[in-house]
Amino acid sequence: MLFSFKSFAFVSAVAVVLTVNAAPTEEPICAGQTIVSTTFVGQDKNVKAEVLSCPNNDFTQHVAARQTAPTPTNVCGTACNTNCFTPSGGGPNNGDCHVIADALLFESENTGPIVQINNGANNTIAMSFRSCKTFFVNQDLGPLAYCRNNWSSLVDIITGTCGAAQNAHGGNCVAADQRWFVQVQHV
Ligand SMILES: *[C@@H]1O[C@H](CO)[C@@H](O)[C@H](O)[C@H]1NC(C)=O
Ligand SMILES: *[C@@H]1O[C@H](CO)[C@@H](O)[C@H](O)[C@H]1NC(C)=O
Repeated sequence: MLFSFKSFAFVSAVAVVLTVNAAPTEEPICAGQTIVSTTFVGQDKNVKAEVLSCPNNDFTQHVAARQTAPTPTNVCGTACNTNCFTPSGGGPNNGDCHVIADALLFESENTGPIVQINNGANNTIAMSFRSCKTFFVNQDLGPLAYCRNNWSSLVDIITGTCGAAQNAHGGNCVAADQRWFVQVQHV
């Protein structure tokens, strides 16, 4: 018993060392996430935009029931409530976040004012640049349409309200009716 316990401890220690030496990886946004698509957006094509599948999210099970109503609900300009994350680990650099806000405005003017966010497994769109990541999560039972300029405003509002100057490490803004939220955090 004692011998096998020691062996296990040794294997664990090796695993920890290997993890530390591995290339840095971004925190997953959700358990079991897969990246459905990756593009680079903004004037300089330097902001990574990903559609994520979160197969374990609570809303996946409702998808089948709502597939007959695919018209997105437009939630542009709807109210949300901001929550700041208390310090633990590092926060995003506000300048990096502002590059994402600018890229969202650029895409609003050049790709289109509206972005569709699916419900169910593919309910998350993430944008990241250097230290900063923002993502939109659709918590509704059907697809949502959101204005890219509203998302841009929220990135600046959240970083301004929940930044290093406030001793906060990012935050989110949760729709008053809980249908969606936008989060800003370190990658
Ligand atoms: C997620 O998106 C991918 C790519 O568009 C699609 O093949 C897949 O069926 C979607 N999954 C769900 C559950 O909507
Ligand atoms: C949200 O977008 C709409 C449509 O573009 C715009 O009229 C409104 O001012 C925006 N609000 C914010 C807070 O960005």
